[in-house]
Amino acid sequence: MATADIVIIGAGAAGLAAAIFSGEAAGPSDTRSIVLLDGAKTIGAKILVSGGGRCNVTHEVVAPTDFFGNRRIIKNVLAAWPVESAITWFASMGVELKREETGKLFPVTNTSRTVLNALVERCRELGVAILPDHRVAKIDRLPDSGAGFVVHHSHGAVTASRVILATGGRSIPKSGSDGFGYELARSLGHQVTPTVPALVPLVLDDRMFHKHLSGLSQEVELTTVVKGKMVDARIGSLLWTHFGISGPVVMDASRFWCVAQEQGESAEVFGNFWPGQNQEQVRQWFMEQTREHPRRSLGKTLAQRLPQRFTDFLIQHAGCDSQAAIAQLPKNDRDHLLSLQTKFLFPIVQDRGWNYAEVTAGGVPLEEVNFRTMESKLVPGLYLVGEILDCDGRIGGFNFQWAWATGHLAGQAV
Ligand code: FDA
Repeated sequence: MATADIVIIGAGAAGLAAAIFSGEAAGPSDTRSIVLLDGAKTIGAKILVSGGGRCNVTHEVVAPTDFFGNRRIIKNVLAAWPVESAITWFASMGVELKREETGKLFPVTNTSRTVLNALVERCRELGVAILPDHRVAKIDRLPDSGAGFVVHHSHGAVTASRVILATGGRSIPKSGSDGFGYELARSLGHQVTPTVPALVPLVLDDRMFHKHLSGLSQEVELTTVVKGKMVDARIGSLLWTHFGISGPVVMDASRFWCVAQEQGESAEVFGNFWPGQNQEQVRQWFMEQTREHPRRSLGKTLAQRLPQRFTDFLIQHAGCDSQAAIAQLPKNDRDHLLSLQTKFLFPIVQDRGWNYAEVTAGGVPLEEVNFRTMESKLVPGLYLVGEILDCDGRIGGFNFQWAWATGHLAGQAV
């Protein structure tokens, strides 16, 4: 049977980072062998598709509040390897990052291939054996406590004294991250908190007008209300699609909606298409328009401030006539239209599912790992990094930062 000092399961962002830091941590006389197993035939699928093919590597400011999970532990992990470390680390591998207006950091080359190539090349320099098409089916602990593990994969087995589990979550199962890593963690005694898609597009009731707006993007303020209490409010870009809504602001809100569904709680997402302004301010603007241009049509009036295609369907949805002069709009219709513009209840029927989710909420509880090393508190010699853990970040590079940071801690400690 093959033997290695360290076996890393999963060659995604977290596994590659763990392999590199583990290789770099080895002293001159340390000839540790590091094997990186991945079930996928070609590795790095998620890095390649990330950030629309540009890989949003991290964010200029990363705070615990950008994440969900045990924030005390998340804070410690982030503090141990801040954004500056990520920038320096990537630069050391020849990947310069540039900051965009939103605060997101991307490779200057604008292609995620640069990121993946640099990580793989660094592994190669450090002598890490990357074995694609090696799906792990089982991990046995050797009977002698502390002796290590036997990792059974699709081509045989390998023994190792230390194992890093970096199998990701359930999002995009065809990429190789199909949730089986949770079974591996469970088989070794870990718990897994319920998993739900996070950062996922939302499907609207088919009777809504979204399909007519497909491809239209607009700024909105989304407010998510769970059990009657506001849990999230943020401004950002919403993309109308043939199935419902997507775009950064929707992806962020989806996390709250999906978790509430899983917990059987009522959840509603409201849109204000006048971000930063309340209904009264919009009413005043509308009254002003009515006074100044009484004969202007309702459609033309609203289209001064909102996308034309959107106003057409919103007015139709409200049961009003877009050609009618605004001064002739009955008060009830005006109130209804104002409320649709500032507190539009999206008729969400479901999320778009794992094939379209960017990350997984839930996973192995952070309390079950030592946050200084990412070593399991239950199984000495086992380390857990990346998305398999019960921590997910909002959109903007935070999930990769978590993957690099946890990979760094485990790689150094292992
Ligand atoms: P990841 O899922 O990347 O890797 C796990 C690896 O384990 C896979 O290669 C899989 O094949 C392997 N594996 C699983 N089970 C196995 C088994 N039994 N045996 C062997 N191998 C196994 N984040 C961000 O910060 N910025 C961004 O721009 C984006 N963009 C983005 C776009 C899209 C479309 C998606 C789906 C996701 C993002 N993300 C993102 C999220 C980010 O990609 C994600 O958080 C990290 O890739 C998680 O890294 P991990 O290494 O933990 O898991």
